[in-house]
Amino acid sequence: MKVVIIGQGYVGLTISAFAGEFFEVIGFDNNQKIVNQLNSGISHIEGVESVVLQKWIKAGRYQATTRGSDIADAHLVVIAVPTPLTKDRKPDLAFIDAACKTIGENIDKPVLVINESTSFPGTLRKFIKPAIERYSTTAVEHLYAISPERVDPGRGDYNQKNTPRLYAGLTAEASEKTRAFYSRFCDELVEVSSPEVAEAAKLFENTFRQVNIALVNEFAQIAHSLGISVYETLDAANTKPYGFMKFSPSAGVGGHCIPVDPTYLAAVAEEHGVPATFIRRANDVNLEMSRYVVERVQADNGGTLQDKSVLVVGVAYKPNVADVRETAAELVIEHLRSRGAVVTWHDDVVGSWRGEISAVLSGADIAVVITKHDSVAEKAIIASAPYVFDTTGKIKGVKGL
Ligand SMILES: NC(=O)c1ccc[n+]([C@@H]2O[C@H](COP(=O)([O-])OP(=O)(O)OC[C@H]3O[C@@H](n4cnc5c(N)ncnc54)[C@H](O)[C@@H]3O)[C@@H](O)[C@H]2O)c1
Repeated sequence: MKVVIIGQGYVGLTISAFAGEFFEVIGFDNNQKIVNQLNSGISHIEGVESVVLQKWIKAGRYQATTRGSDIADAHLVVIAVPTPLTKDRKPDLAFIDAACKTIGENIDKPVLVINESTSFPGTLRKFIKPAIERYSTTAVEHLYAISPERVDPGRGDYNQKNTPRLYAGLTAEASEKTRAFYSRFCDELVEVSSPEVAEAAKLFENTFRQVNIALVNEFAQIAHSLGISVYETLDAANTKPYGFMKFSPSAGVGGHCIPVDPTYLAAVAEEHGVPATFIRRANDVNLEMSRYVVERVQADNGGTLQDKSVLVVGVAYKPNVADVRETAAELVIEHLRSRGAVVTWHDDVVGSWRGEISAVLSGADIAVVITKHDSVAEKAIIASAPYVFDTTGKIKGVKGL
Protein backbone atom coordinates (compact mmCIF):
# COMPACT_ATOMS: atom_id res chain seq x y z
CA MET A 1 0.00 0.00 0.00
CA LYS A 2 1.30 3.44 -0.94
CA VAL A 3 0.77 6.03 1.76
CA VAL A 4 1.22 9.74 1.09
CA ILE A 5 1.81 12.04 4.02
CA ILE A 6 1.31 15.69 3.20
CA GLY A 7 3.54 17.83 5.45
CA GLN A 8 6.85 16.43 6.71
CA GLY A 9 7.15 18.40 9.94
CA TYR A 10 6.80 17.26 13.55
CA VAL A 11 3.62 15.31 12.91
CA GLY A 12 4.03 14.15 9.31
CA LEU A 13 7.61 12.95 9.60
CA THR A 14 6.89 11.15 12.87
CA ILE A 15 4.02 9.27 11.20
CA SER A 16 6.20 8.60 8.14
CA ALA A 17 8.86 6.99 10.34
CA PHE A 18 6.32 4.67 11.97
CA ALA A 19 4.42 3.89 8.77
CA GLY A 20 7.66 3.13 6.87
CA GLU A 21 7.86 -0.20 8.63
CA PHE A 22 4.66 -1.41 6.97
CA PHE A 23 3.96 0.72 3.90
CA GLU A 24 5.60 2.48 1.02
CA VAL A 25 5.59 6.09 2.23
CA ILE A 26 5.78 9.23 0.12
CA GLY A 27 6.47 12.30 2.24
CA PHE A 28 5.04 15.26 0.33
CA ASP A 29 6.21 18.68 1.47
CA ASN A 30 6.32 21.97 -0.39
CA ASN A 31 9.64 22.94 1.19
CA GLN A 32 12.35 21.81 -1.26
CA LYS A 33 15.13 22.21 1.31
CA ILE A 34 13.40 19.88 3.77
CA VAL A 35 12.66 17.39 0.99
CA ASN A 36 16.31 17.33 -0.15
CA GLN A 37 17.50 16.86 3.40
CA LEU A 38 15.04 14.03 4.03
CA ASN A 39 15.99 12.27 0.80
CA SER A 40 19.61 12.37 1.91
CA GLY A 41 18.52 10.55 5.07
CA ILE A 42 18.71 13.43 7.54
CA SER A 43 15.83 14.02 9.91
CA HIS A 44 15.09 17.57 11.07
CA ILE A 45 12.68 16.48 13.78
CA GLU A 46 13.57 15.48 17.36
CA GLY A 47 12.37 11.96 18.04
CA VAL A 48 12.72 10.86 14.42
CA GLU A 49 16.08 9.18 14.09
CA SER A 50 17.97 9.70 10.84
CA VAL A 51 18.97 6.01 10.91
CA VAL A 52 15.30 5.00 10.74
CA LEU A 53 14.78 7.26 7.76
CA GLN A 54 17.89 5.86 6.09
CA LYS A 55 16.63 2.32 6.68
CA TRP A 56 13.32 3.02 4.94
CA ILE A 57 15.02 4.90 2.08
CA LYS A 58 17.37 1.96 1.52
CA ALA A 59 14.46 -0.48 1.57
CA GLY A 60 12.62 1.67 -0.99
CA ARG A 61 9.90 2.46 1.53
CA TYR A 62 10.43 6.19 1.96
CA GLN A 63 10.85 9.05 -0.42
CA ALA A 64 10.21 12.75 0.06
CA THR A 65 8.93 14.90 -2.77
CA THR A 66 7.58 18.29 -3.76
CA ARG A 67 6.07 16.95 -6.98
CA GLY A 68 2.31 16.51 -7.06
CA SER A 69 2.55 13.85 -9.78
CA ASP A 70 4.41 11.56 -7.32
CA ILE A 71 1.25 11.12 -5.27
CA ALA A 72 -1.07 10.15 -8.13
CA ASP A 73 -1.06 6.41 -7.35
CA ALA A 74 -1.59 6.75 -3.58
CA HIS A 75 -3.98 4.46 -1.71
CA LEU A 76 -4.13 6.55 1.44
CA VAL A 77 -3.32 10.21 2.13
CA VAL A 78 -2.65 11.74 5.52
CA ILE A 79 -2.86 15.53 5.91
CA ALA A 80 -0.37 16.88 8.49
CA VAL A 81 0.07 20.56 7.66
CA PRO A 82 0.10 23.60 9.97
CA THR A 83 -3.15 25.10 11.27
CA PRO A 84 -1.97 28.42 12.69
CA LEU A 85 -3.84 31.61 13.51
CA THR A 86 -4.11 34.58 11.17
CA LYS A 87 -2.61 37.94 12.20
CA ASP A 88 -5.90 38.84 13.89
CA ARG A 89 -5.82 35.48 15.74
CA LYS A 90 -8.48 33.65 13.74
CA PRO A 91 -8.22 30.00 12.50
CA ASP A 92 -6.14 29.88 9.33
CA LEU A 93 -7.01 26.93 7.10
CA ALA A 94 -4.89 28.13 4.16
CA PHE A 95 -2.38 25.25 4.54
CA ILE A 96 -5.20 22.68 4.72
CA ASP A 97 -6.74 24.26 1.64
CA ALA A 98 -3.40 23.97 -0.20
CA ALA A 99 -3.12 20.30 0.83
CA CYS A 100 -6.66 19.71 -0.50
CA LYS A 101 -5.61 21.32 -3.75
CA THR A 102 -2.62 18.97 -4.02
CA ILE A 103 -4.90 15.98 -3.46
CA GLY A 104 -7.67 17.23 -5.76
CA GLU A 105 -5.39 18.08 -8.64
CA ASN A 106 -3.27 14.93 -8.52
CA ILE A 107 -5.40 12.01 -7.38
CA ASP A 108 -8.22 10.85 -9.61
CA LYS A 109 -8.98 7.43 -8.17
CA PRO A 110 -10.67 6.87 -4.79
CA VAL A 111 -8.38 6.97 -1.76
CA LEU A 112 -8.79 7.29 1.99
CA VAL A 113 -7.99 10.84 3.13
CA ILE A 114 -7.20 11.14 6.84
CA ASN A 115 -6.76 14.53 8.45
CA GLU A 116 -4.32 14.69 11.39
CA SER A 117 -4.01 18.48 11.50
CA THR A 118 -5.73 20.08 14.45
CA SER A 119 -8.81 22.09 13.60
CA PHE A 120 -12.31 22.94 14.75
CA PRO A 121 -15.25 20.51 14.61
CA GLY A 122 -16.68 20.38 11.10
CA THR A 123 -13.36 20.85 9.30
CA LEU A 124 -13.36 17.38 7.71
CA ARG A 125 -17.00 17.41 6.67
CA LYS A 126 -17.51 21.05 5.77
CA PHE A 127 -14.07 22.16 4.61
CA ILE A 128 -11.75 19.33 3.56
CA LYS A 129 -14.22 17.14 1.63
CA PRO A 130 -15.79 20.04 -0.32
CA ALA A 131 -12.37 21.57 -1.02
CA ILE A 132 -10.91 18.34 -2.43
CA GLU A 133 -14.04 17.85 -4.53
CA ARG A 134 -13.80 21.40 -5.80
CA TYR A 135 -10.14 20.99 -6.82
CA SER A 136 -10.64 17.55 -8.37
CA THR A 137 -10.70 17.39 -12.12
CA THR A 138 -12.89 14.26 -12.06
CA ALA A 139 -15.96 13.35 -10.00
CA VAL A 140 -13.97 10.96 -7.79
CA GLU A 141 -15.49 9.83 -4.45
CA HIS A 142 -12.84 9.56 -1.75
CA LEU A 143 -13.27 8.21 1.75
CA TYR A 144 -12.66 10.72 4.57
CA ALA A 145 -11.63 10.34 8.20
CA ILE A 146 -10.08 12.29 11.02
CA SER A 147 -7.51 11.09 13.51
CA PRO A 148 -6.17 14.04 15.46
CA GLU A 149 -2.47 13.86 16.27
CA ARG A 150 -1.62 13.82 19.97
CA VAL A 151 2.15 13.42 19.73
CA ASP A 152 4.25 15.48 22.16
CA PRO A 153 7.65 15.91 20.45
CA GLY A 154 10.62 15.16 22.65
CA ARG A 155 8.56 13.12 25.11
CA GLY A 156 10.05 9.77 26.10
CA ASP A 157 7.21 7.90 27.81
CA TYR A 158 4.36 8.38 25.31
CA ASN A 159 4.75 8.13 21.55
CA GLN A 160 2.84 7.14 18.43
CA LYS A 161 2.70 3.53 19.54
CA ASN A 162 1.39 3.79 23.07
CA THR A 163 -0.73 6.96 22.93
CA PRO A 164 -4.36 5.95 22.29
CA ARG A 165 -5.51 7.30 18.96
CA LEU A 166 -8.97 8.77 18.38
CA TYR A 167 -10.56 8.35 14.98
CA ALA A 168 -13.83 8.63 13.08
CA GLY A 169 -14.74 8.39 9.44
CA LEU A 170 -17.45 10.17 7.51
CA THR A 171 -18.66 6.67 6.60
CA ALA A 172 -18.36 3.24 8.23
CA GLU A 173 -15.99 2.14 5.46
CA ALA A 174 -13.72 5.14 6.09
CA SER A 175 -13.66 4.33 9.82
CA GLU A 176 -12.84 0.70 9.18
CA LYS A 177 -9.98 1.50 6.82
CA THR A 178 -8.61 4.15 9.17
CA ARG A 179 -8.56 1.60 11.97
CA ALA A 180 -6.78 -0.92 9.74
CA PHE A 181 -4.11 1.67 8.87
CA TYR A 182 -3.28 2.87 12.38
CA SER A 183 -3.60 -0.53 14.03
CA ARG A 184 -0.35 -1.50 12.29
CA PHE A 185 1.63 0.89 14.47
CA CYS A 186 -0.66 2.08 17.31
CA ASP A 187 -1.51 -0.10 20.30
CA GLU A 188 -4.91 1.40 21.10
CA LEU A 189 -7.50 2.88 18.79
CA VAL A 190 -10.61 4.62 20.06
CA GLU A 191 -13.44 5.10 17.61
CA VAL A 192 -15.85 7.95 18.29
CA SER A 193 -19.28 8.46 16.76
CA SER A 194 -18.44 11.33 14.42
CA PRO A 195 -15.46 13.27 13.04
CA GLU A 196 -16.76 16.32 14.93
CA VAL A 197 -16.34 14.53 18.28
CA ALA A 198 -12.75 13.58 17.43
CA GLU A 199 -11.97 17.12 16.27
CA ALA A 200 -13.55 18.64 19.38
CA ALA A 201 -11.82 16.18 21.75
CA LYS A 202 -8.40 17.22 20.45
CA LEU A 203 -9.22 20.90 20.95
CA PHE A 204 -10.69 20.27 24.39
CA GLU A 205 -7.58 18.36 25.54
CA ASN A 206 -5.38 21.32 24.76
CA THR A 207 -7.89 23.83 26.12
CA PHE A 208 -7.89 21.86 29.38
CA ARG A 209 -4.12 22.35 29.57
CA GLN A 210 -4.35 26.00 28.58
CA VAL A 211 -6.85 26.96 31.28
CA ASN A 212 -5.06 24.97 33.96
CA ILE A 213 -1.75 26.59 33.05
CA ALA A 214 -3.45 30.01 33.18
CA LEU A 215 -4.89 29.13 36.58
CA VAL A 216 -1.51 28.15 37.99
CA ASN A 217 0.09 31.23 36.41
CA GLU A 218 -2.47 33.43 38.14
CA PHE A 219 -1.94 31.49 41.35
CA ALA A 220 1.83 32.05 41.13
CA GLN A 221 1.13 35.78 41.24
CA ILE A 222 -1.24 35.37 44.19
CA ALA A 223 1.27 33.18 46.08
CA HIS A 224 4.04 35.72 45.56
CA SER A 225 1.85 38.55 46.81
CA LEU A 226 1.10 36.45 49.91
CA GLY A 227 4.78 35.75 50.49
CA ILE A 228 4.44 31.98 50.10
CA SER A 229 6.11 29.59 47.69
CA VAL A 230 3.95 28.61 44.72
CA TYR A 231 5.97 25.41 44.28
CA GLU A 232 5.64 24.30 47.88
CA THR A 233 1.93 25.08 47.81
CA LEU A 234 1.43 23.07 44.61
CA ASP A 235 3.38 20.13 46.04
CA ALA A 236 1.23 20.29 49.15
CA ALA A 237 -2.00 20.33 47.11
CA ASN A 238 -0.66 17.48 45.02
CA THR A 239 -0.57 15.14 48.02
CA LYS A 240 -4.35 14.82 47.60
CA PRO A 241 -4.78 11.48 45.84
CA TYR A 242 -7.86 12.54 43.85
CA GLY A 243 -9.48 15.64 42.35
CA PHE A 244 -6.23 17.52 41.76
CA MET A 245 -3.75 17.59 38.88
CA LYS A 246 -0.54 19.54 39.17
CA PHE A 247 0.40 22.12 36.52
CA SER A 248 3.49 24.29 36.77
CA PRO A 249 3.75 28.06 36.39
CA SER A 250 5.88 29.51 33.61
CA ALA A 251 6.55 32.65 31.58
CA GLY A 252 3.63 31.68 29.32
CA VAL A 253 2.66 28.90 26.95
CA GLY A 254 4.34 28.21 23.62
CA GLY A 255 4.38 25.74 20.77
CA HIS A 256 1.98 25.05 18.00
CA CYS A 257 -0.80 23.69 20.19
CA ILE A 258 -1.63 25.24 23.57
CA PRO A 259 -1.56 28.92 22.52
CA VAL A 260 -3.39 28.15 19.25
CA ASP A 261 -5.88 25.29 19.57
CA PRO A 262 -8.11 26.87 22.27
CA THR A 263 -8.59 29.86 19.96
CA TYR A 264 -9.93 27.44 17.31
CA LEU A 265 -12.45 26.20 19.88
CA ALA A 266 -13.34 29.74 20.98
CA ALA A 267 -13.82 30.83 17.37
CA VAL A 268 -16.22 28.00 16.54
CA ALA A 269 -18.04 28.52 19.87
CA GLU A 270 -18.57 32.21 19.12
CA GLU A 271 -19.73 31.40 15.61
CA HIS A 272 -22.43 29.27 17.25
CA GLY A 273 -23.42 32.05 19.66
CA VAL A 274 -21.57 30.76 22.74
CA PRO A 275 -19.16 33.33 24.18
CA ALA A 276 -15.99 31.42 25.11
CA THR A 277 -15.06 33.91 27.85
CA PHE A 278 -13.19 31.43 30.02
CA ILE A 279 -10.99 30.25 27.13
CA ARG A 280 -10.30 33.80 25.97
CA ARG A 281 -9.38 34.93 29.50
CA ALA A 282 -7.03 31.96 30.01
CA ASN A 283 -5.24 32.91 26.81
CA ASP A 284 -4.83 36.49 28.07
CA VAL A 285 -3.51 35.39 31.48
CA ASN A 286 -0.86 33.25 29.78
CA LEU A 287 0.12 36.05 27.40
CA GLU A 288 0.36 38.51 30.30
CA MET A 289 2.79 36.29 32.23
CA SER A 290 5.73 37.63 30.20
CA ARG A 291 5.03 41.17 31.41
CA TYR A 292 4.64 39.94 35.00
CA VAL A 293 8.01 38.16 34.84
CA VAL A 294 9.76 41.27 33.50
CA GLU A 295 8.11 43.47 36.13
CA ARG A 296 9.35 41.13 38.87
CA VAL A 297 12.89 41.24 37.41
CA GLN A 298 12.74 45.02 37.17
CA ALA A 299 11.48 45.40 40.75
CA ASP A 300 14.36 43.22 42.03
CA ASN A 301 16.90 45.33 40.13
CA GLY A 302 16.39 48.79 41.55
CA GLY A 303 13.23 49.45 39.53
CA THR A 304 14.98 49.95 36.20
CA LEU A 305 16.37 47.75 33.42
CA GLN A 306 17.77 50.66 31.39
CA ASP A 307 21.13 49.66 29.82
CA LYS A 308 21.37 46.47 31.91
CA SER A 309 22.62 43.44 30.01
CA VAL A 310 20.01 40.71 30.22
CA LEU A 311 20.63 37.16 29.04
CA VAL A 312 17.49 35.18 28.29
CA VAL A 313 18.32 31.51 28.84
CA GLY A 314 16.37 29.02 26.70
CA VAL A 315 14.20 30.43 23.90
CA ALA A 316 12.64 27.16 22.70
CA TYR A 317 9.08 26.84 23.91
CA LYS A 318 9.92 23.75 25.94
CA PRO A 319 12.98 21.77 27.04
CA ASN A 320 15.10 19.71 24.64
CA VAL A 321 13.42 20.80 21.40
CA ALA A 322 14.46 23.47 18.89
CA ASP A 323 10.86 24.59 18.33
CA VAL A 324 10.39 28.34 18.94
CA ARG A 325 6.83 28.68 17.68
CA GLU A 326 4.81 31.01 19.94
CA THR A 327 7.59 30.84 22.54
CA ALA A 328 7.08 32.96 25.66
CA ALA A 329 10.71 34.08 25.25
CA GLU A 330 9.63 36.34 22.42
CA LEU A 331 7.28 38.45 24.56
CA VAL A 332 9.73 38.44 27.48
CA ILE A 333 12.47 39.82 25.21
CA GLU A 334 10.06 42.44 23.83
CA HIS A 335 9.15 43.63 27.34
CA LEU A 336 12.81 43.69 28.40
CA ARG A 337 13.87 45.70 25.34
CA SER A 338 10.98 48.14 25.71
CA ARG A 339 12.39 48.91 29.18
CA GLY A 340 15.83 49.73 27.78
CA ALA A 341 17.57 46.43 28.60
CA VAL A 342 20.32 45.19 26.28
CA VAL A 343 19.08 41.67 25.58
CA THR A 344 20.90 38.63 24.24
CA TRP A 345 19.79 35.03 24.50
CA HIS A 346 21.44 31.67 24.97
CA ASP A 347 20.00 28.50 23.48
CA ASP A 348 22.36 26.10 21.73
CA VAL A 349 19.50 23.73 20.89
CA VAL A 350 17.85 26.50 18.85
CA GLY A 351 21.15 28.00 17.62
CA SER A 352 19.82 30.87 15.53
CA TRP A 353 16.50 32.67 15.71
CA ARG A 354 15.04 35.89 14.26
CA GLY A 355 18.39 36.77 12.67
CA GLU A 356 20.25 36.48 15.98
CA ILE A 357 22.50 33.69 17.21
CA SER A 358 22.84 32.06 20.60
CA ALA A 359 25.10 34.09 22.92
CA VAL A 360 27.58 32.69 25.43
CA LEU A 361 26.16 31.74 28.79
CA SER A 362 28.09 34.24 30.91
CA GLY A 363 28.87 37.85 31.68
CA ALA A 364 25.37 39.35 31.95
CA ASP A 365 23.98 41.62 34.68
CA ILE A 366 20.77 39.61 34.74
CA ALA A 367 19.82 36.13 33.51
CA VAL A 368 16.15 35.21 32.96
CA VAL A 369 15.55 31.49 32.46
CA ILE A 370 12.59 30.71 30.22
CA THR A 371 13.42 27.13 29.19
CA LYS A 372 15.98 24.80 30.75
CA HIS A 373 17.32 22.20 28.33
CA ASP A 374 18.91 19.10 29.90
CA SER A 375 22.16 19.96 28.11
CA VAL A 376 22.52 23.26 29.99
CA ALA A 377 24.15 22.87 33.41
CA GLU A 378 22.39 24.48 36.36
CA LYS A 379 25.78 25.66 37.67
CA ALA A 380 26.57 27.44 34.39
CA ILE A 381 23.24 29.30 34.54
CA ILE A 382 23.86 30.37 38.13
CA ALA A 383 27.34 31.60 37.17
CA SER A 384 26.12 33.50 34.11
CA ALA A 385 24.94 36.59 36.03
CA PRO A 386 24.91 37.93 39.60
CA TYR A 387 21.09 37.95 39.46
CA VAL A 388 19.18 34.99 38.02
CA PHE A 389 15.39 34.80 37.69
CA ASP A 390 14.17 31.28 36.91
CA THR A 391 10.65 30.87 35.50
CA THR A 392 10.98 27.07 35.30
CA GLY A 393 11.26 26.25 39.00
CA LYS A 394 14.19 23.92 38.23
CA ILE A 395 17.12 25.97 39.51
CA LYS A 396 17.72 25.99 43.22
CA GLY A 397 18.78 29.05 45.21
CA VAL A 398 17.88 31.76 42.68
CA LYS A 399 14.92 34.11 42.32
CA GLY A 400 11.83 32.76 40.59
CA LEU A 401 8.05 32.63 40.38
N1 LIG B 1 3.91 19.61 16.70
C1 LIG B 1 3.10 19.03 17.55
O1 LIG B 1 3.50 18.73 18.66
C2 LIG B 1 1.68 18.70 17.19
C3 LIG B 1 0.99 17.79 18.02
C4 LIG B 1 -0.31 17.47 17.69
C5 LIG B 1 -0.92 18.07 16.60
N2 LIG B 1 -0.24 18.95 15.83
C6 LIG B 1 -0.93 19.51 14.66
O2 LIG B 1 -0.43 18.87 13.49
C7 LIG B 1 -0.43 19.78 12.40
C8 LIG B 1 0.96 19.86 11.81
O3 LIG B 1 1.83 20.39 12.79
P1 LIG B 1 3.40 20.20 12.76
O4 LIG B 1 3.88 20.52 14.12
O5 LIG B 1 3.75 18.89 12.17
O6 LIG B 1 3.82 21.37 11.74
P2 LIG B 1 5.28 21.64 11.12
O7 LIG B 1 5.35 23.07 10.86
O8 LIG B 1 6.34 20.98 11.96
O9 LIG B 1 5.25 20.84 9.74
C9 LIG B 1 4.39 21.15 8.73
C10 LIG B 1 5.06 20.82 7.42
O10 LIG B 1 4.09 20.99 6.41
C11 LIG B 1 4.72 21.59 5.30
N3 LIG B 1 3.67 22.21 4.49
C12 LIG B 1 3.00 23.35 4.71
N4 LIG B 1 2.06 23.52 3.78
C13 LIG B 1 2.16 22.47 2.96
C14 LIG B 1 1.47 22.09 1.80
N5 LIG B 1 0.47 22.82 1.31
N6 LIG B 1 1.83 20.96 1.18
C15 LIG B 1 2.84 20.20 1.67
N7 LIG B 1 3.52 20.50 2.77
C16 LIG B 1 3.18 21.64 3.40
C17 LIG B 1 5.74 22.52 5.87
O11 LIG B 1 6.78 22.80 4.94
C18 LIG B 1 6.23 21.72 7.07
O12 LIG B 1 7.35 20.92 6.75
C19 LIG B 1 -0.97 21.09 12.95
O13 LIG B 1 -2.35 21.14 12.74
C20 LIG B 1 -0.68 20.97 14.44
O14 LIG B 1 -1.56 21.75 15.20
C21 LIG B 1 1.06 19.27 16.09
